[in-house]
Amino acid sequence: MCGIVGVINGSKVVDDLMGGLELLEYRGYDSAGLAIVKDKHVYARKTEGALANLKKELAINPIEGRVGIAHTRWATHGEPTVVNAHPHSSQKVTVVHNGIIENYEMLREDLEYEGYEFVSDTDSEVVPHLISLFMDSGALSPEAAAMSAVKMLDGAYALGILFEGEEEFFCAARKGSPLAIGYGDEAMYVASDAMALAPMTDRVSYLADGDFAVLSQGNVEIYDVDEHLVQREVRKSSIKANAADKGHYAHFMLKEIHEQPDILLDIVETNLGAQKIAKEKTVDFAEISSLRIIACGTSFYAGHVAKYWFERYANLNVEIDIASEFRYRNAPLPENGAALFISQSGETADTFAALEYAKSKGQKILSLVNVPESTIARASDYVVLTEAGSEIGVASTKAFTAQLAALAMLVIEAGKARGVLSAADERELTGALKLMPAKAQEILKQTDVYQDIAQSLKETHSALFIGRGASYPLALEGALKLKEISYIHAEGIGAGELKHGPIALIDKDTPVIAVAPPGELAEKTLSNIKEVQARGGPIILISDAKTIAKADFETLASVEVPECHDFIAPFLYVLPLQLLSYYAALARDCNIDKPRNLAKSVTVE
Ligand code: M6R
Repeated sequence: MCGIVGVINGSKVVDDLMGGLELLEYRGYDSAGLAIVKDKHVYARKTEGALANLKKELAINPIEGRVGIAHTRWATHGEPTVVNAHPHSSQKVTVVHNGIIENYEMLREDLEYEGYEFVSDTDSEVVPHLISLFMDSGALSPEAAAMSAVKMLDGAYALGILFEGEEEFFCAARKGSPLAIGYGDEAMYVASDAMALAPMTDRVSYLADGDFAVLSQGNVEIYDVDEHLVQREVRKSSIKANAADKGHYAHFMLKEIHEQPDILLDIVETNLGAQKIAKEKTVDFAEISSLRIIACGTSFYAGHVAKYWFERYANLNVEIDIASEFRYRNAPLPENGAALFISQSGETADTFAALEYAKSKGQKILSLVNVPESTIARASDYVVLTEAGSEIGVASTKAFTAQLAALAMLVIEAGKARGVLSAADERELTGALKLMPAKAQEILKQTDVYQDIAQSLKETHSALFIGRGASYPLALEGALKLKEISYIHAEGIGAGELKHGPIALIDKDTPVIAVAPPGELAEKTLSNIKEVQARGGPIILISDAKTIAKADFETLASVEVPECHDFIAPFLYVLPLQLLSYYAALARDCNIDKPRNLAKSVTVE
């Protein structure tokens, strides 16, 4: 978590630093700060809360210079106060840091013993003092001191480093946390994410783990972990400079929800037409006996839907795991097995660590990411892209349905490769997928319905989401959406599990949102809904017109989804869940794109 930017351009850096931070604010918004070297002295400005506060501070107390570093924070060690905000400084060195220094307590003790004074509660503050220690020992240049010092850090870091008295260069280093280098005309940049560099340049490279870089105006020297001078491939980034534009929407989340029909149409047409998810892009499904899917949050729920699909349409045994649980339990993995990692950002620390573990156990690594240049993509044997475009809202929406679309293609490939799907079956599934974007469009039009229901959810303290089969992961996703942006407690429950405990929660103040597409499990879900009704629970039914019309129970409200093939139901039934959460959060006046305590990309454990 946290975002860092560094700029050297020989003239004025503050606008580029602030522009970069704006595009990184999705990574954390607890506090922000920057430091700039002017006339060989480092000057810093820091504020609590969102970046807007730093902007105000700079308007009152401006600084300018030819080289600088900046930071937007998601607090890990130490509360989100000005003192704990980055940059952190010693007398000679100033640093911004993304990651966690695991051995900071031991380092801090040693440094305090040597007389270095600390002011913050952060792990990051050890870095400038440690570099100072190496500089104070005499023989080392500032760059060499920094290169030696970072080797003593355990844990994860992306660092930007300025030195008192030096305005001709700054340094950067990475281990675990991502860091991109941007190449401008007579300017060099670093940032946690290439998107933050898009307004400045489209030429980027990525530091490898353990790399250390010295950036001067128009040049960068990169040293690998053995201190050998190395080249990292410079690529043309495809990220658009206006990727972070809300257009006419009030929030990124709403814009991203409404982008879904077009994105899905693009994915379906490109892939079903040109067979883009070609064999060489993925594992040989005919060869594997099982597949393990690993992810976090919403990406995990997309994987959960895919488990049902792979089992049903490809007769493939699939195990799913939450990355943070999988990574530490030394799970035995089959010889010649395959693991699929799903991540919008491609940077989630838990998912990446699980990937490294699976790789060390000889698994074929397939990843499904939305960011082609991400750490997870670069570490994988095979990569399938979700092609959803940049997702800025912290609550994931379009990435989820784009993941489902890519997974659906993989499932069809797997079903064919394993001899489960006939040509006629394939035509049936692809035919359903082709109809899906237009049906999605219809669902998004019912704004009044969502707004009305949101009004009735506005004051509620707790809500339950229920579903069966592939609608069970949707119930989990619906609950996650509601809690993360509206702060209403919510739980997703397999409808059949209700009677094993959760039904005790039902009362007149606990709405139950039932995800109930027609199909072979519908009757069972409907009887679970009646059990809720019998206990006085208000019901919000999401189903097709026929099911809603013949429902023999009372509902608080219902949302109509067009009739559809089972296979595409998850794409369509998740849309009302996204919109209900959005409008409930709006009615409660919550910060929808930047919910409290969260960040978009979770690059720490
Ligand atoms: O970038 P990733 O897909 O790996 O992120 C995983 C989760 O952190 C993410 O889906 C999170 O749960 C979202 N806030 C959900 O809306």
